[in-house]
Amino acid sequence: MGFTMGLNLLLLIAMVATNILSLYHLSSNLQSKPTSHAPVQQPVPDHLINQLRTIRATIFHLTRIQDANAKPSSTSKPAIPSDLLLYSKLAPIASSCHNHPDLLHQYMNYTPFSLCPVDDELAEALILRGCHPLPRRRCFAATPQKTTTSYPLHPFPALLPDQAVVWSKYACKSFACLNRDNKFKGFNTSTVSKPTFLSSASDLDITIPEFLKLAKTLSSPIRLGLDVGGGTGAFAARMKLRNVTVLTTTMNLGAPYNEVVALRGLVPLHVPLQQRLPVFDGVLDFVRLGHAVNRWIPLVAMEFLVFDVDRVLRGGGLLWIDHFFSKGEDLEKVYAPLIGKLGYKRVKWAIGKKMDGSGVKNGEVYLTALLQKPVSK
Ligand SMILES: *[C@@H]1O[C@H](CO)[C@@H](O)[C@H](O)[C@H]1NC(C)=O
Ligand SMILES: *[C@@H]1O[C@H](CO)[C@@H](O)[C@H](O)[C@H]1NC(C)=O
Repeated sequence: MGFTMGLNLLLLIAMVATNILSLYHLSSNLQSKPTSHAPVQQPVPDHLINQLRTIRATIFHLTRIQDANAKPSSTSKPAIPSDLLLYSKLAPIASSCHNHPDLLHQYMNYTPFSLCPVDDELAEALILRGCHPLPRRRCFAATPQKTTTSYPLHPFPALLPDQAVVWSKYACKSFACLNRDNKFKGFNTSTVSKPTFLSSASDLDITIPEFLKLAKTLSSPIRLGLDVGGGTGAFAARMKLRNVTVLTTTMNLGAPYNEVVALRGLVPLHVPLQQRLPVFDGVLDFVRLGHAVNRWIPLVAMEFLVFDVDRVLRGGGLLWIDHFFSKGEDLEKVYAPLIGKLGYKRVKWAIGKKMDGSGVKNGEVYLTALLQKPVSK
């Protein structure tokens, strides 16, 4: 019973984390369509169907891994890799790592002082199961064969240098391929393609100029922030042009999202949604929760997430909830009370119907909110 519940929770979390980026891009896509006139019911777009297929495949895959792990080990106990034994004397390894010995052993089974195996998928599989931070290893992570002298200085480069990425880990072997592939939206980082966060199609869109203006009226200086589930870092890039530093949490899930954020000269934090934010208490001016944060996150996980956001915000800091979606009645009965527990001041609270196929089918709504943390408790 406990195991099944744990497994379900895990799968949900994994599912959510797996789809942070796709959701993010998907929703920003939908959002960019003008919706000011009478809403029209849209058919389920192909890319959404593709996303859902990916989600199901991921869950199926994870379930199989989980089942394989659950089987009691047969007579011969596999040996624990020597580097794991050594490392665990230096630093304790979290219980979530111990819960997945097969994966952990595979991860730590490498030849020290030589090239690391190319096992990013294995690493993220462990991270998504709560094994984070991963144990350190004494090997060399692969670097691209050729170096590049063309690292972009502007956060919206016309082109990203293909040679700066080790492509062997991904199905696509170039940025052009990622741009073409419907599954991976957002890889064309050129500023011309989409003026994200600058234009507003409805009350649900807070533009960056609006955000900064609101912060000013609240006498809340904006210098340093965190974008949760920030994909390729488009938000942080926009803020960089305003001289604001934004950290971006992002996972790699099939495409080099972390590399792209870094290539833009921004800071990618490789942490999943269930992970404690790796910054100290009360140091951030604001946190933005993008579309990755939505009703797919189990409620308890969501509570821990918003309280961790509270932890890292300074007094008077701002929480920007951007297009959170849930069923209409849940927003009222579950999520608004949850957010209310923080005791923040509502600067903005806008609700709108989610008009895409799944939104209409499930009676979903979007919430965009700007909330201010009280100066002291
Ligand atoms: C990115 O988008 C811009 C503007 O739409 C376009 O000119 C450019 O060719 C695109 N780049 C790639 C690599 O697809
Ligand atoms: C950002 O900082 C640079 C260098 O101090 C300055 O020239 C520029 O005007 C600033 N930009 C904004 C939008 O404040």
